[in-house]
Amino acid sequence: MNGTGSTRTLARVSAVRTIAQDIVELTLVAQGGRFAPYEAGAHVRLHLGDGLERSYSLCGEPADGSRYVIAVRLEPASRGGSAAVHRLRAGDTLALSGPFNLFPVDWSEPCLVLLAGGIGITPVYAMALEAARRGHPFELHYFVRSHEHAAYADELRRLGLTAATQLHVGLDPVAVRAQVEAIVRRMHGGEGLYVCGPRPMIELAREVAGGTLAPGRIHWESFGGGEAAAAAAGAADSDSEQPADTPFEIRLASGEGPFEVPAGQSALQVLLAAGIDVPHSCREGECGMCVVDVVEGVPEHHDHFLSDAVRAGNGCMALCVSRARTASIVVDF
Ligand code: FES
Repeated sequence: MNGTGSTRTLARVSAVRTIAQDIVELTLVAQGGRFAPYEAGAHVRLHLGDGLERSYSLCGEPADGSRYVIAVRLEPASRGGSAAVHRLRAGDTLALSGPFNLFPVDWSEPCLVLLAGGIGITPVYAMALEAARRGHPFELHYFVRSHEHAAYADELRRLGLTAATQLHVGLDPVAVRAQVEAIVRRMHGGEGLYVCGPRPMIELAREVAGGTLAPGRIHWESFGGGEAAAAAAGAADSDSEQPADTPFEIRLASGEGPFEVPAGQSALQVLLAAGIDVPHSCREGECGMCVVDVVEGVPEHHDHFLSDAVRAGNGCMALCVSRARTASIVVDF
């Protein structure tokens, strides 16, 4: 992972453009210097004022360190994050932290099979650009509701990457499953499968590919945006958090606490409010940044990041969504 949870950089919005229906692309430049370098799959956390923070994948050329590019879909039920980004204009300044990379590419894999659903194209587009730059074999499958919702379709065409790109437009869930099964069937086992999209799409890809590919060959990052309607039944809004209603007590192995985690609040919220700098990003149990070791007590898992085997071991938990089955839990990080 690059970057830290607490270091902030001041950025200026140098350009804003609409790249698809409800999706704007922002180009950010560092105020007084250059941004930290990043690799395809990385994201940054924007600090949007009043404590509002949201994470967005970097979707430009990773090799171009002079700017960061993000693309953000306006969520219909946004609690403020995507709406605040859509209000930004060229010349505005904001703070950001990162880059972080929880979705890195394993370039030892002989071919990348990239699956994107809706706004999940953003890290996948960066991977495709980088693969093309390196001359690394890849194929990109992009599932969208309509041509109007397809971000970066023109760029992929202009860059001559259409031979490696297949657009799947307006498919229903049955057709999405059939396509994903067909894609996985063509894989021989050595390739890496990279999936970014709404949660149901991730789960579908993991289920379909699970019997064919070794676990280390399946890489995913989830966006709850729900745009890939065909695959998105039941997807949560990316601005949402898991409901939480079981009170418990949390202590740190370093001796801090106990802290009471009441109904309706996450352990992450409680620890941040107590001034403890817990690395975090999505706050939805998706990214894994807030996962900590459990040294005492039994967690109640609500994340979508840890594997079933790791969850069953109860040796770690995601503080943003998971709770405790025991009255008290002790964590270490
Ligand atoms: S902040 Fe992303 S899993 Fe907790």
